[in-house]
Amino acid sequence: MNNTQDHVRIFDTTLRDGEQSPGFTMNASQKIAFAHALADLGVDVIEAGFPNSSPADFNAVQTIAREVQGATIAALARCHPGDIEACARALHEAAKPRIHVFISTSPLHREHKLGMSKADVIERTTMGVSLARKYVEDVEFSAEDALRSEREFLVEVFNAAVAAGARTLNVPDTVGYATPDEIRELFRYLRANVQGADDVIFSAHCHNDLGLAVANSLAAIEGGARQVECTINGIGERAGNAAMEELVMALKVRGGWYGVDTRIQTPKLLDTSRLLSRITGIQVQRNKAIVGLNAFAHESGIHQHGMLKNRDTYEIMRPQDVGWPDSQLVLGRHSGRAAVADRLRQLGFVLEDAQLDQVIADAKALTQTQHVITDADLQMLVEGERYGPGWRIAAMSLIDEGQHTRAHVELSDPDNHRVQQDARGDGPIAALFAALARATGVDFELESYEVHSMGIGRDARGEANLSARIAGETWTGQGTSRDVLEASAIAWLAVANQIQRAASHLRFAISA
Ligand code: KIV
Ligand code: ZN
Repeated sequence: MNNTQDHVRIFDTTLRDGEQSPGFTMNASQKIAFAHALADLGVDVIEAGFPNSSPADFNAVQTIAREVQGATIAALARCHPGDIEACARALHEAAKPRIHVFISTSPLHREHKLGMSKADVIERTTMGVSLARKYVEDVEFSAEDALRSEREFLVEVFNAAVAAGARTLNVPDTVGYATPDEIRELFRYLRANVQGADDVIFSAHCHNDLGLAVANSLAAIEGGARQVECTINGIGERAGNAAMEELVMALKVRGGWYGVDTRIQTPKLLDTSRLLSRITGIQVQRNKAIVGLNAFAHESGIHQHGMLKNRDTYEIMRPQDVGWPDSQLVLGRHSGRAAVADRLRQLGFVLEDAQLDQVIADAKALTQTQHVITDADLQMLVEGERYGPGWRIAAMSLIDEGQHTRAHVELSDPDNHRVQQDARGDGPIAALFAALARATGVDFELESYEVHSMGIGRDARGEANLSARIAGETWTGQGTSRDVLEASAIAWLAVANQIQRAASHLRFAISA
């Protein structure tokens, strides 16, 4: 096998290294749902868990091995017969099983954690890999804390692992200590010195304690690694593991530099990231690369102006390449006239110059009291100027009826008449959106719907963002309010109003 010609294998360990970190615990059905999403995303290997760590982990690995097709399913074991046998049983029904055995190799771990000599470590490596090979063809060996191990000793341990039948040699930077130059050099050294190096895959497993996990993984690839171990959203022990979405997109965007790619379906990255956030209840930070809310949002007037002329000025990849519907020109105090006019056009408002001037002046005034101008704010300003009518919430209430929720909405219609409607739904959101659809006569399928909290304590506000796809166009709406349900209703009406305004010149019908 020639490592320099091949693709980079993505080994996802969200369900093992990620899941074992505080705050990211998942139950069995959540793990299974997430494993299906990883297979859809196109990862090569899913590390499903550590079967001997608990009966729950065993069951989750077993179900994933049975149900999830496409990817190799890996399970982790120390070089202990009990761990390895548990992996073999849990992986029994996998189409492509892998047992991943590990032992620490650094002097610190040998002395203080294992109480073992170098010879003991080599013996346990041979035992662990050989036993795993009795059950499966595909065995990966990891030298835990490799980056703080003597490199000559690492070669000895890896030689033993290869001789015992390991196909993948993983080099973990367990405590996130390495720097890019150092790890690139180590991979070059290992590939030059491990016996049979051309017949195995070298793998990098980088932790993020110094914020270098992705940079180190990329450097390892330059050094010859052809598997990287990573997690969605970079979750993992302490500061996390290398973030898959960042690694994959770095290889894609800078393909000319790295010359190797992955088999990841990159437009599914955002949905996979959001699925993980929904499952764990932990959102990524706004400015997180690729999947953060700000990743494709531009606020500064100069940037927005550049973007409107040629998006390459401030964008190195298309938002659609990673699953966003589009870039967002966020309106704030740094936004310019062109961006406000453009957003108003997208919202379906076509204004005369003088009207536009007035709305821009009002929007600027609003930025004195709030940081960002949402679509709902713009709509309110425009409607306040009576340039474009729309539906607005007058009152709403929700009643929990046990199995269902009943929503009552009272809206003022575009001509300022009151309309009231009730609807039932499985939960408050379903009931609320059904009542709004009845009241407005506008109905659409949601493509995405998210609520976030902005601020804390007495200042906390809910922000709802939703999008709908109709007649090949994406319509987005935003709402903010102290109450997330009201924010959701405002966002829903923002979309409904755009659709209604645009319906006259677009060829699609509004259902009555
Ligand atoms: O960080 C680490 O060393 C690990 C190994 C078990 C691969 O997670
Ligand atoms: Zn790890």
